[in-house]
Amino acid sequence: MSELLYKEIYPVDKDDFVRAGEASAKIKRTLKQLGVDADKIRRTSVVSYECEINLIIHSLGGQMCLEVTDEEIIVSSSDKGPGIKDISLAMKEGWSTASDSVREMGFGAGMGLPNMKRHCDEFILNSAPGAGTEIVMKIKI
Ligand SMILES: Nc1ncnc2c1ncn2[C@@H]1O[C@H](COP(=O)(O)OP(=O)(O)OP(=O)(O)O)[C@@H](O)[C@H]1O
Ligand SMILES: [Mg+2]
Repeated sequence: MSELLYKEIYPVDKDDFVRAGEASAKIKRTLKQLGVDADKIRRTSVVSYECEINLIIHSLGGQMCLEVTDEEIIVSSSDKGPGIKDISLAMKEGWSTASDSVREMGFGAGMGLPNMKRHCDEFILNSAPGAGTEIVMKIKI
């Protein structure tokens, strides 16, 4: 059994571009304080930032969670909807439903989810239209 060393939850609101990146910044700070290896912090920062921005842009709001055990870093998210219709399409590089105004802010390249999968050791995405989306990403320590 792995031992839970740290757990924190960060609410993330829909369209809250003013606070965008705050949850990821807190996650990064915590990992530094816990003395986690720099490369693991870098990978966790990539996945947590992409995940947070997706909650802001695509979801109706939700939360992120950081758990650190003696074996792994777990970043997860759950949101209130609208869910993802076609997960394999959403996982494709370059596929995005982002609006023009979101693209003008520099998001919407369709690279977030593939990037998240690439930078973690385990990636789980559960989603259904009408329900919400849940993502669990694990990085081994
Ligand atoms: N939490 C979510 N809720 C609903 N749909 C989502 C969620 N996260 C991702 N999606 C859907 O999956 C698509 C692909 O996501 P991905 O992060 O790869 O690209 P993007 O956010 O559109 O662009 P980028 O991440 O490059 O700025 C999104 O355009 C959106 O349709
Ligand atoms: Mg994205």
